[in-house]
Amino acid sequence: MSTPVLEVRQLDKRFGATHALRSASLSLARGEIVALLGENGAGKSTLTKIISGEVAPDTGQILVDGQAAHFGATADAIAAGISRVPQELQVFPSLTVHENLYAGSMPERRLLPGVASVRREMSRRNAQRLLETFGIVLPLDRLCGSLTFAQKQLVMLLRALTHDVKVLILDEPTAALEYKEVQLLFRVVRELARRGVAVLYITHRLSELREISSRAILMRDGTVVREVASEQYGDACLSHDLGGHAPPPVGRRGAVPGAGQETVSIPLFGQATRVRRGEVTGFSGLLGSGVENLLIDAFKALDGGARRRVGYISGERGTQVFYDASILRNLCAPHLKMFSVAGHFNEAAARRAAAGLIRAFDIRPGDPDRPMRELSGGNQQKVLLARWFLARMDVLLLAEPTAGVDVGAKLLIQKIIDDYRREGGAVLLSSTDYDELATLCDRIVPIVKGVPGAPIDRGNGFNADEIRHALGVL
Ligand SMILES: Nc1ncnc2c1ncn2[C@@H]1O[C@H](COP(=O)(O)OP(=O)(O)OP(=O)(O)O)[C@@H](O)[C@H]1O
Ligand SMILES: [Mg+2]
Repeated sequence: MSTPVLEVRQLDKRFGATHALRSASLSLARGEIVALLGENGAGKSTLTKIISGEVAPDTGQILVDGQAAHFGATADAIAAGISRVPQELQVFPSLTVHENLYAGSMPERRLLPGVASVRREMSRRNAQRLLETFGIVLPLDRLCGSLTFAQKQLVMLLRALTHDVKVLILDEPTAALEYKEVQLLFRVVRELARRGVAVLYITHRLSELREISSRAILMRDGTVVREVASEQYGDACLSHDLGGHAPPPVGRRGAVPGAGQETVSIPLFGQATRVRRGEVTGFSGLLGSGVENLLIDAFKALDGGARRRVGYISGERGTQVFYDASILRNLCAPHLKMFSVAGHFNEAAARRAAAGLIRAFDIRPGDPDRPMRELSGGNQQKVLLARWFLARMDVLLLAEPTAGVDVGAKLLIQKIIDDYRREGGAVLLSSTDYDELATLCDRIVPIVKGVPGAPIDRGNGFNADEIRHALGVL
């Protein structure tokens, strides 16, 4: 067998009391696409951060093309041909696409010792070539802040490709992408693999597994527990391996107190729309449909009074987390008024409420004083959602509520959303996951080019294929 392009041997990593990696080993061959799976907190991001030089291991070895490698920083890993696209969006909103692609690595020309000029034109030509190679359309001079989520993610992917890569690591690239965006990403990944790049691909979307990867590596509690050919990995077996402790799926729809009563009015498509209690309305659309900004724009347009009765979560997790603040503070952030007594924060009451939510959402670690940056991506997502269950909200605007959470947590969250509806809550939901829409919604509004189409009603229940059909995906 030829030498693997990347091999890691027995990586171990502790963060204080957390044993994040326990003797984790894996290897990748040239041109191979491998899925890395595991529950939230299993150690996937930590393992790949060590491979990309972002985190130093306590012990263990990394070999690139059979040679021992020591990465003190990401620049060392990049020089060795290893790039990682992180789980959270990291683009500079006030720089252009072109500047973001080369942020920190614009090619320079040395004029005199210590004096260099940035070779802007050259990097521009390179960027153009990169776009053409992969058939991607992106306006190089647009500010990144004005791009869609999927476009920002493409910028991050392309940034990794401005260097020569042998190994590309994608940490949950599709967590909030819709069908066509996923297909575009897959096209790029396959083209890279064809050129000999090894791709390590982290995902919680099991349906993608057989479509994109040839092999799957499963992690649990910081170590690799299974490696199988993707096509041999049946859904049942996979779900079981990924934590079969899920609650029963959302059940039949019964009578709901106050159902149909109108609650807060939400501005949608330029119109004040009354939202009804006991109902979940879903929105779905393809690339450029405007669905991804629909709920955030609606939330921004609310006046202060209404805002206090409306909870909101967006697919762009990074913009809503206070990373250096504790889980407790992040949970309480929207409710400070509720927990203040004569101008003081009622810590004891907040702690009691937080403890209940940590249990209900299975947030790990469950210590409310841990800073958010120490949580895995999926657990951060749980905190962001859980905060809206600390006080009773009239309406929840949920964009990609289960982005990045594992199979078990996803079912748990869907059950919590459905329970909220049953208790008379109103929900507007946008999701790129058609199964999620079919599970949770009373009606689904397809959006095409910013215009809402005729809603599809639940009737006796709809399925994901029906939704795809309405969107013109099939
Ligand atoms: N900087 C840190 N400080 C302390 N603990 C950390 C830190 N980073 C990660 N951890 C812990 O290490 C463990 C593994 O986390 P990691 O982010 O690697 O999980 P993951 O498999 O990527 O999960 P997810 O699917 O939720 O993204 C978790 O228990 C997490 O809380
Ligand atoms: Mg992660």
